Amino acid sequence: MHSFLYLLAIGAITTTGVLSEARSDTEERATSCSTANPNDVAAAKAAFTSAELVPDLIPSFDPDTTVQASYNGKQIDLGNTFSVTETLLQPSISFLAEPNYDASTTNYTIFLVDPDAPGPALPVLSDFLHLIIENAQPSCITTQSPIDLAPYMSLTPLSVAPHRYTILVYRQPPNYVAPVDPQYVPGVRNNFDLNGYVAEAGLEGPIAGNFFREGLSSTDCAITPNCTQDGTGYPTS
Ligand SMILES: *[C@@H]1O[C@H](CO)[C@@H](O)[C@H](O)[C@H]1NC(C)=O
Ligand SMILES: *[C@@H]1O[C@H](CO)[C@@H](O)[C@H](O)[C@H]1NC(C)=O
Repeated sequence: MHSFLYLLAIGAITTTGVLSEARSDTEERATSCSTANPNDVAAAKAAFTSAELVPDLIPSFDPDTTVQASYNGKQIDLGNTFSVTETLLQPSISFLAEPNYDASTTNYTIFLVDPDAPGPALPVLSDFLHLIIENAQPSCITTQSPIDLAPYMSLTPLSVAPHRYTILVYRQPPNYVAPVDPQYVPGVRNNFDLNGYVAEAGLEGPIAGNFFREGLSSTDCAITPNCTQDGTGYPTS
């Protein structure tokens, strides 16, 4: 815990040198935006590789900033474990500015997806979509108006084996319009094609990512239809 807070403090004092000579009011605001500690960016990249989220979920991951998220104050930290009762309500999510992009005029789309549904041994329902937020901006932009495009759907792992619940941030190009997608509605979130959506939408990135692990307890799995140890209990035909 102490070392995590220490890392946050280091991240917060690393500022954007590139924008430091900006003159207009808008750009002036951007100068106060922190960028991520390169060590934290490298740690996220390494964690995605060792957890095999590359290539299971995304073909590559070359972030240039970090995304912070928590459920009721408990931080998501590159693969730590949560329980179903801890994740009933939407997590708070924020991210630091990218170097070389004006935080005040760049919008981002944030996803929470599960590549391990209904269980990691046979992920026939993946990607399972839990949340899309559009028009998000780095946390230094206090006047932003993000929109819950696909409202949060709480997590329903059908295995004791943990799923890798993954948060990804993508940069929206100028004049971005999100695609029309029936899967924004809660209840029809299975087999969401994250990479297909990103390509269709023209999103750039991911520029940041984080993830946590969660499965059902053995006790809860025993009384949940189609839940098994490894997630092979869901009917596939
Ligand atoms: C960013 O999002 C805000 C709030 O929804 C919107 O008003 C603004 O036009 C967007 N900017 C760009 C560059 O897309
Ligand atoms: C569980 O599996 C059965 C068939 O084995 C199926 O009829 C049922 O819809 C499934 N229930 C859930 C909640 O997935």
